Amino acid sequence: MPFRPRYTGLIDKYRDRLPVHDDTRIISLGEGNTPLIRLNNIPRLLGKEVDIYVKFEGLNPTGSFKDRGMTMAVTKAVEEGSRAIICASTGNTSAAAAAYASRAGITSFVLIPDGKIALGKLAQAMIHGAFVIQIKGNFDAGMQLVKDVAQEAPVTIVNSINPYRLQGQKTAAFEIVEELECAPDFHCLPVGNAGNITAHWMGYKEYQEHGIANNRPRMVGYQAAGSAPFLRGHPVDNPETVATAIRIGHPQSWDKAWQVKAESNGWFDECTDEDILVAQKLLSQKEGVFCEPASATSLAGAMRDIRSGKIPEGSKVVCTLTGHGLKDPDIAIKQSTAPLITVEATLDSVKRAILENMA
Ligand code: F0G
Repeated sequence: MPFRPRYTGLIDKYRDRLPVHDDTRIISLGEGNTPLIRLNNIPRLLGKEVDIYVKFEGLNPTGSFKDRGMTMAVTKAVEEGSRAIICASTGNTSAAAAAYASRAGITSFVLIPDGKIALGKLAQAMIHGAFVIQIKGNFDAGMQLVKDVAQEAPVTIVNSINPYRLQGQKTAAFEIVEELECAPDFHCLPVGNAGNITAHWMGYKEYQEHGIANNRPRMVGYQAAGSAPFLRGHPVDNPETVATAIRIGHPQSWDKAWQVKAESNGWFDECTDEDILVAQKLLSQKEGVFCEPASATSLAGAMRDIRSGKIPEGSKVVCTLTGHGLKDPDIAIKQSTAPLITVEATLDSVKRAILENMA
């Protein structure tokens, strides 16, 4: 029986399309190669003939799409002789930075908004041995501090302003095109700093320019209504949302994202926290896919635009699910309506519990 070569991460796979050399030491945890899951039940509930796929980036090694960018950023930081990396984060970047730094044997410093990141992400940064600096301020304040401190200390910034991050993240678009054998008609993403929407567009453009795909998608970016600078047309100073991952008011890729919208003939829109939580629950309960709240923003927005016909029937739609639901167990438990049933440890009581609760 012929065996396929072991998958060793996205830099090895897309070496020709990434800024690495033959002798670059690759820092990888086998990221990328995530499933593109076709939704079966949600399109039926919408009553529309649309093909919706979710790219489940929560199945990356640290549970979010950040690993795609971090493998590149840390590989290059190490190649350039850096001994320490730093980032500001709403949680996922810090988890990825901490993990890849430990893999590389370098130090990581992460600035997080005090009390405003999901528990799973904090646990990750801590167990991987990052120096966690909680600031009494939000992500945007942390980002500014990181930029300032990097001018005075020998640390490499691994936020998405590090250009290698976007290089790594563009590979998600490559994978989608390879799997669908074309680009989708619409690609929907949650938008915070807007690095990921920018990276996907880079990937789609590259594959079209190199003749691998004949088409490119319209890029659609959805923001949480309380943190929606792209909808307001200017930065927002006090962003708020249940989707803490995208609680960002001063996006770092502001100009790039407007360019993506223009070039791809796409749009931005906003979703309420309620819509986001409904989409998270729907995905969990109708499709068996558990993503974190911020991730569900892509589907929340897509469902609305499919219902209204803005995304027409017959379309092929990809929604990126950026992070795993286990990142934020508190929200998941709050979202559950099913009661926890406690009974005696006897056959009779377990049997009764089952019969009483059969649909
Ligand atoms: N979804 C999740 C789960 C995220 O963690 C982020 C960003 C985004 C979406 C938005 O992506 O910023 O490229 O537009 N999280 C960053 C962090 C800010 O620190 O983990 P973007």
